[in-house]
Amino acid sequence: MQKKEQNNDIPRHVGIIMDGNGRWAVKRGMPRKAGYKYGADVFTKIARYAAKLGVEFLTVYTFSTENWSRPPEEVAAIMDLLRTFLRDAEKYRKDNMRLIVLGDPAPLASDIQKEIERIHRESSGNTGMTVNIALNYGGRDELVHAARALMSRFRDGMITDIDAVTADDFAACLYTAGQPDVDLIIRAGGEMRLSNFLLWQSAYAEYTFPQVLWPDFTPRHFDEALDAYARRDRRFGGV
Ligand code: IPE
Ligand code: IPE
Ligand code: MG
Repeated sequence: MQKKEQNNDIPRHVGIIMDGNGRWAVKRGMPRKAGYKYGADVFTKIARYAAKLGVEFLTVYTFSTENWSRPPEEVAAIMDLLRTFLRDAEKYRKDNMRLIVLGDPAPLASDIQKEIERIHRESSGNTGMTVNIALNYGGRDELVHAARALMSRFRDGMITDIDAVTADDFAACLYTAGQPDVDLIIRAGGEMRLSNFLLWQSAYAEYTFPQVLWPDFTPRHFDEALDAYARRDRRFGGV
């Protein structure tokens, strides 16, 4: 702990790909869905830990636009868990965290959409860490959504000069509008890929791939990722 407080290199925005839940459960002879339950509890612990260390934005990948291709029973189990997680979001309010759901809510069940509206409304005044819950999130979907928003502004006359559109204008149409780019992406589970997570925001992100399935991820793994991050030389194209 004290080591972290002396560290000036705490990333402002951390992204987490909490992968490996299904494999973790199967390894223990349990149904895959049991892994999601454990994974969700681990997330709550890590979110509190990240807030304590001074992380300002934490984005967690909970369900991708591609995850609909899983068997219907698995999708239903994940949705049930997310439903409970969102209903329980009170606990984050108590921690003064602001909760934002990133992604297209349209295909989600209407009660989940209502929960999303509720937590946005009820946590919007909180001043602690922002927790972005990427749910039915896809990086490409987000980019298309932003492109559509800009095109409709053009159609409505709010944009008149197409050549004057900047990268900042584009970023302001993303689900993460107003937030800093992600500094560090931690992917548990052993795979070394982005799987359509934060495509725009990760342009200069650092990555760590802890060799642990997400339900086994502990604050120590988070510390290790932050230590690795602090040792990186971020040049942003400069020298
Ligand atoms: C990631 O865990 C969480 C979701 C996609 C909801 P997985 O379900 O992908 O777990 P593995 O990678 O199959 O073990
Ligand atoms: C990424 O994991 C999505 C989430 C963690 C929610 P996946 O398990 O869907 O990624 P792939 O299929 O291995 O690339
Ligand atoms: Mg996976």
